[in-house]
Formats: sequence, C-alpha cells, structure tokens
Amino acid sequence: MNLPARGRAAGKVILLGEHAVVYGRPALAAGLGLGLEVEVTASGGVLRVESDLASLADDPRPAALAAEAARALGLEPGGLTLRIRSGLPAGAGLGSSAALAIAVLRALAAAAGRRLGRDEELALGRRLEAIFHGHPSGIDPAAAAETGSGCIRFVRGEPPTVTALPTARPLPLVIALGPPRSTGAAVGGLRARWEADRARHERLFDQVAAVVEAGARAAEAGDLPALGRAFDENQALLEALGVSAPEVEALTAAARGAGALGAKLTGGGAGGAVIALAAEPERVAATLRTRQVETIVVRVGTAEEGKAA
Ligand code: PMV
Repeated sequence: MNLPARGRAAGKVILLGEHAVVYGRPALAAGLGLGLEVEVTASGGVLRVESDLASLADDPRPAALAAEAARALGLEPGGLTLRIRSGLPAGAGLGSSAALAIAVLRALAAAAGRRLGRDEELALGRRLEAIFHGHPSGIDPAAAAETGSGCIRFVRGEPPTVTALPTARPLPLVIALGPPRSTGAAVGGLRARWEADRARHERLFDQVAAVVEAGARAAEAGDLPALGRAFDENQALLEALGVSAPEVEALTAAARGAGALGAKLTGGGAGGAVIALAAEPERVAATLRTRQVETIVVRVGTAEEGKAA
C-alpha cells in the first residue's frame, strides 16, 4: 500500500432543482472552492476516523463509509487511520457528506495504487452517500468530483448525465448559513408525502423542472434578474413541497430586503444554508452579518472554469 495517501473533494452549491432531482428532474449545481481533505495513514487495530469537525466526533457514519469504501477498493479496512480536514460547514446543504465520500475514495484509491474512472467514482460515491441519506440523486458526489467552480446541469441515472453549463458571466452569490439540519430527514419526509399523494408532488416536480430550465437559460445568458426570479420561484415550490423552514424564510426575506435579486434554500433544506443572487453580494452579506448571520460570498459558473465532461 502507498501510505500516507491523500484525497480531496469540493463542496457544492445547488443553484436550482434540489429534491425534485431525486425524482428524475434536472438540477443545476456549481463547485465551491471550499473543500475537504482526507489523509490515510497506517496504524494498528481497527479502522479509525479522526476529524476536526466537532459535529462528526460522535458520528459512526464516517467510519462506516470509510470501511465500505476500503472494501469496495479491495483493501482490508483494519490498520488504517483516516484524518478528515474540512473547510466546509457540516449539515448546511453544501455537500459535505458527498465531499467526504469522494475524498475518502480518492485517498483510499491512491493508497491502493489505483485511479478511479469518473463513472466508477460517481457510482461508488453515490453508494457511500446513501450511508448519510436514503435516496441520494447523486448530484452531490457529481459536483464534489468536479474541479473549479463551473456550473453543471445534472440528471440522475446510471451513469448520471452531467453537462457543463458555461455562463456568460460569473454568478455572484451570498451563502447565508442557517442552523444545521439533516438532509436525510428532509428527503425521507418528502418521500412519505410523495407516497401519500404522488399526483400533486409530480406536478410540483414538473414545475421545478420548468424553473430549472428557465434558470439555466438565464445563467447561460448572464441574465441575473431572470436567474433571481428563478431562485424565488424555486423557493416558493420548495415551500409547497414542505422542505423549507421558518428560519430559511426569514433569511430569504432578509436577503431580498438587503437588495438580493432572488434567494432560496440550497441542498436538503428544513434549515441549513440559503443562497442569494446579488449584483453586489458583499453589500448583502454585510447587511446579513449585522443580524449575526454567518455568510460566505462566492462567484460561481465562470465559463473558463466550467470543466464538466
Ligand atoms: O443537503 P445536501 O447538500 O446533501 O443536498 C441534498 C440534495 C437533495 O436534492 C435534497 C438530495 C439529493 O440526493 O439530491
């Protein structure tokens, strides 16, 4: 085995289409500069996972994920220690669990002297992500496997369809961090409501798909006001799907009040992060910070950096 070995993967932001993407509709996402790194070293005894993330300290899932990844790569999990260093907030909807899955796979593949192909990496990443929540669409591992901050259009499948979406200009976003929450609970709750009334939910998913397509055209054209409207329409549909939360709606209202062109939850919802599109994101972020909200300003989707296959 080649030890020590390292693997890195990026977080992501879902611009439009979360939740409906689990049911086969398209979604848009972009990679984040923020990411997560895993280092594998040799140690005695059972497999150990150490993390700088307080939220993972008592969580058995990273060790389960690492053991399954090791076995999938033909490695004996015993005798390995994995150290996670993360620049991503956990439970925010920024894809930390998928980034963990991809970074662990890359580190263990490097230890095994293997290079995983893209499709194999995505299929394994999705299987591992299921340890964190039951019905993953695969969009998080697909975005985590990207380099750069380009936008992708994603449709689930075996393998998924991942296409680069070059944008005429960078898309300036404020990410406002709300209270951490569980993606699994939000995805599971929606699944139960869908089982109870499929027709209503399928109609809502179709409306999300139409908003995603309109948003994709706006992003390609660099039309920020139209993309902002798509954010607002998507947020209204996410509320109708029951995956929003009062904290999320307070943040979207505050962002719009501070001059954002549109705002919505991102990722699993029910709390977590909100994204706001703004021509002057630093100003919106400064206003939100006066309300004790933690913010990150990013510019995603630059045409030169979009590198999806
Ligand atoms: O909360 P996150 O970052 O894991 O994003 C989940 C996105 C969902 O569409 C809600 C679920 C999925 O697997 O696509």
